[in-house]
Amino acid sequence: MLKKVAILSSGSGSNAQALITHFASQENIEVVFVGSNRASAGVLEKARHSEVHHGHFTKEDLNNGSLLNALEKLEVDWVLLAGFLLRIPIEFCSRYQGRILNIHPSLLPKYGGKGMYGIRIHEAVFQAGEKESGMTIHYVNEHYDDGAVVFQGRVKIDDVTNAQEIAERVLKLEHAYYPRISTELITLDK
Ligand code: GRF
Repeated sequence: MLKKVAILSSGSGSNAQALITHFASQENIEVVFVGSNRASAGVLEKARHSEVHHGHFTKEDLNNGSLLNALEKLEVDWVLLAGFLLRIPIEFCSRYQGRILNIHPSLLPKYGGKGMYGIRIHEAVFQAGEKESGMTIHYVNEHYDDGAVVFQGRVKIDDVTNAQEIAERVLKLEHAYYPRISTELITLDK
């Protein structure tokens, strides 16, 4: 049964691109919208290049329900956050409960929550002298990085010399696992 997916991102969109590319080979999954709260986000250019319907929305659109209405008009079944920096309002979470995922570049619950995004995470991991890091795929609720964990990928970092090296190793895990894990969950959703 065809499942329609929306991807929301605030940044460059390398995870969004990995998802779009993988889903193109899945006949039961169609990306019907890629959206960003930043008009200049690289993810929108990637969506245009991949010929996927895309658009910019504001924080108000997210919080006043108009983005939710737009996704419902597109008959979106699943919402995948990929580098999306805004908190999802509770009405949105309720509507997509069990069908909205996020990916976070740390082993939650460590190094998560408000303000923990991008290189800041990896700096904190590096400063703490952690021997491993990784990524977490989790269901989304109305709190940052707080929903039930679906999957975690780990990588050893005891040989790194800076935070950027951690970021690069974790991003590779994200690109490898987010498409596969989300495909499994979406396909299991009858
Ligand atoms: C990724 O590290 C993701 O885990 C986090 O934000 C970053 C987005 O990178 N949520 P990109 O825009 O997918 O390249």
